[in-house]
Amino acid sequence: MMQTRLSGPTIAANVDPAERQSKPLTTSVRGDFPLLIRESTTGRPSVYLDNAATTLKPQPVIDAISAYYREYTSNVGRANHQFAEIVNAKFESCRENVASFMGAKKREVIFTSGCTDSINLASMLLNLERDDEVVVSILEHHSNYLPWQSRARVKTVLTDGTGVIDLDRLRDAITPRTRLVALTYLSNVTGNVQPVREAIRIARERGVLVFIDAAQAMGHFPVDVTELGCDFLAFSAHKMLGPTGVGVLYIREDLHRHLRPVRYGGGMVSNIKHGAVTYRDGPAMFEAGTPNIEGILAFGAAVSYIQRLGLPAIAQRLNELEQYGWKQLSQFEELIFPFPRHADHAAIFTFRPRSETCDLSFLVQILSDTYGIALNQGYQCSQPLYEWRGVRGAIRTSLYFYNTFSEIDQLVDGLRELRPFFA
Ligand SMILES: Cc1ncc(COP(=O)(O)O)c(C=O)c1O
Repeated sequence: MMQTRLSGPTIAANVDPAERQSKPLTTSVRGDFPLLIRESTTGRPSVYLDNAATTLKPQPVIDAISAYYREYTSNVGRANHQFAEIVNAKFESCRENVASFMGAKKREVIFTSGCTDSINLASMLLNLERDDEVVVSILEHHSNYLPWQSRARVKTVLTDGTGVIDLDRLRDAITPRTRLVALTYLSNVTGNVQPVREAIRIARERGVLVFIDAAQAMGHFPVDVTELGCDFLAFSAHKMLGPTGVGVLYIREDLHRHLRPVRYGGGMVSNIKHGAVTYRDGPAMFEAGTPNIEGILAFGAAVSYIQRLGLPAIAQRLNELEQYGWKQLSQFEELIFPFPRHADHAAIFTFRPRSETCDLSFLVQILSDTYGIALNQGYQCSQPLYEWRGVRGAIRTSLYFYNTFSEIDQLVDGLRELRPFFA
């Protein structure tokens, strides 16, 4: 496997001079990411193109974790000693920051251990019955399929010819037994941004709750839950510069009073007297036990970092990378792109050699070991989608704002040299 060493040229060497002039966002940020200034043993710069799996972490996020251990280790919301006061204040300001980042109220932001955990938590809170229906799309990640499928009857809506959820089919799928519509905002396989606004409107007209899986959307373009009008929304910190082990479940405030806790422990109770329990309201009711404090503080640092750059600038940069990536990759006649590319498409490209027998794992291994390029291959936890299209897995390249045109070129060069293996 690829090995790395700390010394080596800084990443400026991996940014095309023309791009350096025209893309101030990318060139100004690359030095903030320790992994981008490492060099692979291949002699070529390391190229990280597996951002849909997890993004790299900038120095302020790494620093936030170590500051917690070095400077103010304490539990949160449990004490008022000198360290606890620092941590309590920082923790609550993170929640405030995350809330304003997504257009929510502070009390609507529930910290979890990740997007998957958020979806599982929501599925428990909804107290579904076996005959209840949950409508999902064929694009869902297993995390937004299995938790619903394990509790209720899941109905799957297909996409239309352009690669987005077919809204007429969605309308038809909703029946009086439908308790929830649960949809991805942006497919981690196809890269197509979904018409969630329209889907939410359709569901709300029928009085059905809506859950949005925003794992791939958050931190990529502005997402405002109030403007969207969804009831629940989930995402992971680690897909937007933050650490693993932290996620968010947004629950619209007026639903809180209809929900009962499903996890029990410290920090969630205001009073227990003679066995009678009064739960705290707001997020505390859903966050039993000690949270991932250092992770949440680092997540706050990630949100601040993104806010400093600005989501519109990030979205614009991702769009430039998408356009360039498509232009470069779509020229390979030996490759197929099994999923349609919609007009609103993220910088995620999924492709495979035409040959059914080509060993994708082998290809991705060579691209890593010989060309220093980190990619993803397989089904990306979205097997129903692959099965529907009759495709036996694919290679996924997914970019974030710190990626460059030169890195796309490096991938293209690698693919060109590997052409003999495509058969
Ligand atoms: C669209 C989507 N939803 C949910 C998840 C699950 O996220 P996590 O594994 O961080 O819980 C992913 C992860 O790849 C994803 O892409």
